[in-house]
Amino acid sequence: AAAVGLYLLTRRLRKSGVMFLLFLLAIVPSGHGCPEECLCSLQTVKCQNKDLDKIPHFIPNNTKILFVSGNSISRISGDSFPTRLELLTDLHLSGNELEYVDTMAFNNLPNLVRLDLSNNTLQNFNESAFPNDTKLQHLNLSRSLHNHSTTDELLNFLRSGNLVNLTVLDLSNNDLVILPSDIFTHLSSLVSLSLQNTSIINIHNGTLRVPPLRELDLRNNSLKHLSSKMMAEFSLKPDLRIQLAGNPWLCNCFIEDTLMWLKNSTQVVDVQNLTCTNPKDLRHQPLLQLEKYELKCSMEMKGVLGTSYVFLGLVLALIGVIFLLVLYLNRKGIKRWMYNIRDACRDHMEGYHYRYEINSDPRLANLSINSDV
Ligand SMILES: *[C@@H]1O[C@H](CO)[C@@H](O)[C@H](O)[C@H]1NC(C)=O
Ligand SMILES: *[C@@H]1O[C@H](CO)[C@@H](O)[C@H](O)[C@H]1NC(C)=O
Ligand SMILES: *[C@@H]1O[C@H](CO)[C@@H](O)[C@H](O)[C@H]1NC(C)=O
Ligand SMILES: *[C@@H]1O[C@H](CO)[C@@H](O)[C@H](O)[C@H]1NC(C)=O
Ligand SMILES: *[C@@H]1O[C@H](CO)[C@@H](O)[C@H](O)[C@H]1NC(C)=O
Ligand SMILES: *[C@@H]1O[C@H](CO)[C@@H](O)[C@H](O)[C@H]1NC(C)=O
Ligand SMILES: *[C@@H]1O[C@H](CO)[C@@H](O)[C@H](O)[C@H]1NC(C)=O
Ligand SMILES: *[C@@H]1O[C@H](CO)[C@@H](O)[C@H](O)[C@H]1NC(C)=O
Ligand SMILES: *[C@@H]1O[C@H](CO)[C@@H](O)[C@H](O)[C@H]1NC(C)=O
Ligand SMILES: *[C@@H]1O[C@H](CO)[C@@H](O)[C@H](O)[C@H]1NC(C)=O
Ligand SMILES: *[C@@H]1O[C@H](CO)[C@@H](O)[C@H](O)[C@H]1NC(C)=O
Ligand SMILES: *[C@@H]1O[C@H](CO)[C@@H](O)[C@H](O)[C@H]1NC(C)=O
Repeated sequence: AAAVGLYLLTRRLRKSGVMFLLFLLAIVPSGHGCPEECLCSLQTVKCQNKDLDKIPHFIPNNTKILFVSGNSISRISGDSFPTRLELLTDLHLSGNELEYVDTMAFNNLPNLVRLDLSNNTLQNFNESAFPNDTKLQHLNLSRSLHNHSTTDELLNFLRSGNLVNLTVLDLSNNDLVILPSDIFTHLSSLVSLSLQNTSIINIHNGTLRVPPLRELDLRNNSLKHLSSKMMAEFSLKPDLRIQLAGNPWLCNCFIEDTLMWLKNSTQVVDVQNLTCTNPKDLRHQPLLQLEKYELKCSMEMKGVLGTSYVFLGLVLALIGVIFLLVLYLNRKGIKRWMYNIRDACRDHMEGYHYRYEINSDPRLANLSINSDV
């Protein structure tokens, strides 16, 4: 209430500029005033949508929750929090077009537990941004990694080894596609992971090995079926609850293993909501209601064969043309060859004719037999 009172006083004094300056000078050294751009109530400070380009200085040192969302703070560095905020547990920095998180950025926030960095445009995140003994538990990086070429490098800070208390990680709405298999190996407390809408096509063996995960959100990705490695990975964690709806399941004969696993497993909480996307005649069909005879490979095979027939036809036509060409170019030789054959045939036939005549002449039969012997 005192803080609100101060704020109202500030607003009133603002009209007379000199008085306000004097007032500021008076309250700043005490460390209990509320920054001009902010609303302070109890131990919550809100400085949202104020077009700030840095964290306001002189945040009251008893602040527990700080909102600085919707500004234009492109960089958080060691200077961003010049005084130690022992009590601060929650920091909201979403929607700032934040690009750089530098080394020691959060060193003066020793009790930070929840950090919301969602909806930013991160380019670099120094692996020593957090103090060694950080107590960070919730980290929100939803919709904040837009530079595909730097994503792997950027997420290196997750491997720094000091985020041992991190339990909730939100990486949703980023274009990740494939995760490096060692990305979570240092997050030894991670329980809840959102990879919703991250264009994931597969999860490598070993990726989920370390964290004691219990919730995994894989909705709205690009999974067409589950690879055997993924199913093995999931089965290693019997307590894991998985969400898989909104993926473009391809219901052909290759999905049989996935179906067997889905029907037997109790891990997929939204298994009732999984539907085929392709082929067209099975679209929207629930996966659990598929019958084995509906799962064909012929759809694609027909296409493959169709194209291969066309190709084969073209090759044969080409061979035919080449053959005719060779015949044409070699026509003289062929003519000679034909004559030779004809002559040979004629000689041969004459020989037969002769032998026939000899054989049919009873007077000469004995002679011919004798000559054969
Ligand atoms: C805040 O600062 C004042 C004076 O500067 C100090 O007496 C007080 O202990 C500090 N509070 C915390 C929670 O650090
Ligand atoms: C993301 O932040 C921008 C400002 O940087 C804001 O205009 C937009 O509404 C935010 N989007 C979401 C989904 O919060
Ligand atoms: C992360 O922030 C987004 C808003 O930007 C919110 O919708 C989402 O629930 C947050 N995630 C967590 C785990 O708090
Ligand atoms: C992190 O900061 C340290 C010290 O400024 C620097 O040496 C290192 O290169 C930085 N790392 C990244 C990935 O920016
Ligand atoms: C943090 O840990 C690293 C290596 O584990 C060490 O080099 C560094 O001195 C530590 N920093 C602090 C402030 O303790
Ligand atoms: C992505 O990061 C690279 C390397 O840091 C940089 O050169 C490039 O400009 C960035 N792209 C965008 C769209 O920010
Ligand atoms: C943070 O992790 C350390 C080491 O694993 C543990 O001793 C401590 O109790 C954890 N703190 C919280 C608040 O979970
Ligand atoms: C999914 O993520 C992309 C970024 O990879 C984002 O542009 C899009 O808005 C997200 N979709 C939804 C429904 O949030
Ligand atoms: C996955 O990796 C483990 C070792 O981390 C190995 O024992 C197992 O055979 C692998 N599984 C597959 C399907 O590759
Ligand atoms: C997920 O996908 C479904 C179906 O395409 C869509 O209705 C829903 O809005 C999406 N949700 C998110 C968070 O992307
Ligand atoms: C079905 O699941 C149980 C454990 O939930 C497992 O022991 C069994 O081998 C599975 N059966 C098949 C056919 O996968
Ligand atoms: C399945 O989808 C329906 C309708 O979209 C939704 O209301 C329900 O919560 C979903 N079930 C699960 C387990 O996600």
